[in-house]
Amino acid sequence: MSTFFGGLAPLPPDAILGLTEEFNRDPRPERISLASGVYVDESGITPVLPSVVEAERRILAAQTTKLYKPIAGDPAYLRAVRALVFGADAAAVAEGRVETLHTPGGTGALRVAADLIHRTRPGATVWVSTPTWPNHPQVFAAAGLKSASYPYLDAATGGLDAEGMLGALRAAAPGDVVLLHACCHNPTGIDPDAALWARIAEVVAERNLLPFLDFAYQGFGDGLVEDATGLRVLLRPGAELIVASSFSKNFSLYDERVGALSLVGATREETATLLTHAKAAVRANYSNPPAHGGEVVATILGDAELRARWEAEVTEMRERIHANRRAFVAGLAAAGATGWERLLEQRGMFSLLGLSADQVRRLKEEHAVYVVGGGRVNVAGFTRRNLEPACRAIASVLAG
Ligand code: LMR
Repeated sequence: MSTFFGGLAPLPPDAILGLTEEFNRDPRPERISLASGVYVDESGITPVLPSVVEAERRILAAQTTKLYKPIAGDPAYLRAVRALVFGADAAAVAEGRVETLHTPGGTGALRVAADLIHRTRPGATVWVSTPTWPNHPQVFAAAGLKSASYPYLDAATGGLDAEGMLGALRAAAPGDVVLLHACCHNPTGIDPDAALWARIAEVVAERNLLPFLDFAYQGFGDGLVEDATGLRVLLRPGAELIVASSFSKNFSLYDERVGALSLVGATREETATLLTHAKAAVRANYSNPPAHGGEVVATILGDAELRARWEAEVTEMRERIHANRRAFVAGLAAAGATGWERLLEQRGMFSLLGLSADQVRRLKEEHAVYVVGGGRVNVAGFTRRNLEPACRAIASVLAG
């Protein structure tokens, strides 16, 4: 008799986290990980932020219960996150058109949103950029949604293919969903400027599409407020919008799985109805959110002194990433790989070098340097110690 799961073929490892697993098993002492999008400091570790340590101390001292959270999360967390994401004085918030749910990480927010779209508009196609984070199409497929791709990276110029992108969105069917990276595009590091955001907003309105922002890197581009430029452009009177936020990176709370899903409806009433459907999607998925990460975020955002400390920490991480980016381009040039100045205009943790599968394999096998497929490099992973050998390895595979 065959077993229940006996006919299954194994799947390949995850395109990003699978590499981390492989890296952790790699016995070579010189190994360098530029794969998973995690920030490291100069000593090569991903530190717990001092603001988080202090918030955790306060939470532990005051904790009296481990009762379930509400399905949507604690109101204090939701209010603080709404203000951080949309701005304290956003008209849509004042009008009661924004509801936020506390989710397990940004991926949890994407999945709840995907379930919500599938419940309410099962035929909708979700449009994602080419390229995008490999987990995007996987999350949408798991929720039963179709996805399609719009051009984003112009292979010829290494810049953004604005006309290709807008052309594809003009051809999307009314009621389709457009996934946009709010800032620090993953994997290219290339973001629309304010003028392009305005054109995207026009096409979205003309074609009656639902914009869906993945906001995983708020604060890592140009600043906590500056990085919400696209969000504010899309937030027109009466316009609908979905935002998936992650606090893995900007609070360095990777393993706490803390994020948020914000739903902007056309009216207060429609948003309230939408929330009931989102709560049903949560209840059928993980029931209610995990406590700790959300309590940390709410404690920091709700205390003026802790918040100022955290904002300074975000600035320090952002400036270090910018400095790493400059050092990377200079390091490549010093190793003989010139012509990478366009990377300096990019934002956030990632740059995409456009490496072949063979070049990526050689980097790993011959040089113990791990990058994601296509040559996505996490510039936040450089230190003074690993920069030079990594640049030499990349220059060597580029040279053929
Ligand atoms: C990344 O893109 O490396 C991060 O978002 C980590 C992940 O979950 O893939």
